[in-house]
Amino acid sequence: MTWRASVLTLFPEMFPGPLGLSLAGKALRDGRWALEALDIRGFATDRHRSVDDTPFGGGAGMVMRPDVVDAALGAAIAAQPAARRIYLTPRGRLLDQALVRELAAGPGVILLCGRYEGVDQRVIEARELEEVSAGDVVLSGGEVAAILLLDACVRLLPGVMGAADSATEESHGPEGLLEYPHYTRPAEWQGRTVPEVLLSGHHAEVAKWRRARAEEATRTRRPDLWAKHLNRNAGEGGRLDGQPAAA
Ligand SMILES: C[S@@+](CC[C@H](N)C(=O)[O-])C[C@H]1O[C@@H](n2cnc3c(N)ncnc32)[C@H](O)[C@@H]1O
Repeated sequence: MTWRASVLTLFPEMFPGPLGLSLAGKALRDGRWALEALDIRGFATDRHRSVDDTPFGGGAGMVMRPDVVDAALGAAIAAQPAARRIYLTPRGRLLDQALVRELAAGPGVILLCGRYEGVDQRVIEARELEEVSAGDVVLSGGEVAAILLLDACVRLLPGVMGAADSATEESHGPEGLLEYPHYTRPAEWQGRTVPEVLLSGHHAEVAKWRRARAEEATRTRRPDLWAKHLNRNAGEGGRLDGQPAAA
């Protein structure tokens, strides 16, 4: 069955956008996934086609109306009852590769993109939406966050990445390490050389060097990920002392 994404937005013209290019675009044209952008404004019922109103309790900005958003969600859910329903919001759990893997393994997603100050809380609760954030930043709308989430999911769908682009060793994989650094030709550039071991043709040494660099990068750049990696390994009988593998 084709993995399917329905995006509820006030700006359907933002889709497929970058998702129509490169890997995701080719996969879309090949039918490996399907994308529908639903215009929330199409579900407005008054003659001005209003989708927002002033917040109860006062304050700046506008809030997206629950009745209009609910009607749009109803249409998307009817077409895709088994899909995970996600509201993209800076108040949500942070998107990470574990969630991306889960979503890519399912039948698809329904993504609600907010604008203004966001969406009336009651419709989020009534439709049991999962709240997911693209990062600890505030965007002007959920569309860019939806594109980010879809790009990350689509590349994991079967047949989308070739063996050459395999996700097995990349950052945020099942081991929770950042990736090692990469080098290509020329072997010397602006007086900078490539680590000798990479030119040696010795696969076991290259693998050992890469593993050590991956551990070093994770430990120094992302102590939070390094702690999680150590905990995971400890659970599997690995080292508990926080020491990296030998270089
Ligand atoms: C200007 S933001 C609203 C921010 C909201 N008033 C707050 O302070 O949490 C408008 C919309 O952009 C989207 N958005 C903004 N930042 C986001 C983020 N980090 N992740 C996902 N969606 C985001 C949400 O859909 C949100 O409803």
